[in-house]
Amino acid sequence: MAKVLIATEKPFAPVAVAQISEILEANGFEVVKLEKYTEKSQLLDAVKDVEGIIVRSDIIDAEVIEAAKNLKIVVRAGAGYDNVDCEAATKHNVCVMNTPGQNSNAVAELVFAMLLFHVRTGFNGKTGSELMGKKLGVMSYGNIGQNVARIGQGFGMEVYGFQRLTPANYFVKDGFKFFNDRELMFGLCDVMVLAMPAAANTKKMIDYNLLSRMPKGAILVNIARKDLINEADLLRVLSERPDLAYLTDVKPDCEAELVEKFPNQYFATAKKMGAQTAEANTNAGMAAAKQIAAFIQTGEAKFRVNK
Ligand code: 3PG
Repeated sequence: MAKVLIATEKPFAPVAVAQISEILEANGFEVVKLEKYTEKSQLLDAVKDVEGIIVRSDIIDAEVIEAAKNLKIVVRAGAGYDNVDCEAATKHNVCVMNTPGQNSNAVAELVFAMLLFHVRTGFNGKTGSELMGKKLGVMSYGNIGQNVARIGQGFGMEVYGFQRLTPANYFVKDGFKFFNDRELMFGLCDVMVLAMPAAANTKKMIDYNLLSRMPKGAILVNIARKDLINEADLLRVLSERPDLAYLTDVKPDCEAELVEKFPNQYFATAKKMGAQTAEANTNAGMAAAKQIAAFIQTGEAKFRVNK
């Protein structure tokens, strides 16, 4: 019986694991679980004889792919697949997929949880401020961005989207205004939300030039990846501009310095938890299980990312 491994250093909710297992078993697979593992050797051992792997942010590098001699498919139950070495997978004829959109509402809701916590001064009883009427910039307008825009509109915020390929530098879609000019957006928005993937063209994109343009009292929210930020520039801007704040679900490398120097301007979740809801785990996990079954049984590869 072909084996599918669920390898999650940060486990799915039990309800999600049960539903993933049900789908895989109904399709004739044996389900193997490796949760909360602490050593790479455990992962290397667990992948040895499996045909499919479901992961979250778990690192699937060339060594893991080489150790998995029977591997046909890896599905990242989530959006960003920068944790999977797609080149190595292609080399070994392994299909890599993600499950786009399945956890995006959970991620978007966390943006507002962090924002409310911050503007209401950590619920410490001091006078805070409101989101209504503030300008919200969403970069980019993908699955997460669209949910952030929708919720922001519910709060009565003025929503702006960023779309790189927008022909004119200003247009209106879904009732939101769009720009293709980052400098313009950073100069305008009271809240900027980063929801784009970490790729060669986005890494360290958020730099001094953009950050220093932010209006007085502005807040940058990173719900995506730490690599988007030029950390030296972030440290510089926060020290020059005590009015700015950085809220993140992905801890930067310079976390210790931020905590020490800017306790009122910096907030990070204890562990990346944008997608950490039972609903998101279930949606993304079930999608992953179905994609694995369909790929192995019929070759269906709609969500393949290593073309
Ligand atoms: C994603 O890319 O889907 C999110 O960053 C969620 O990641 P996680 O599954 O590791 O929480």
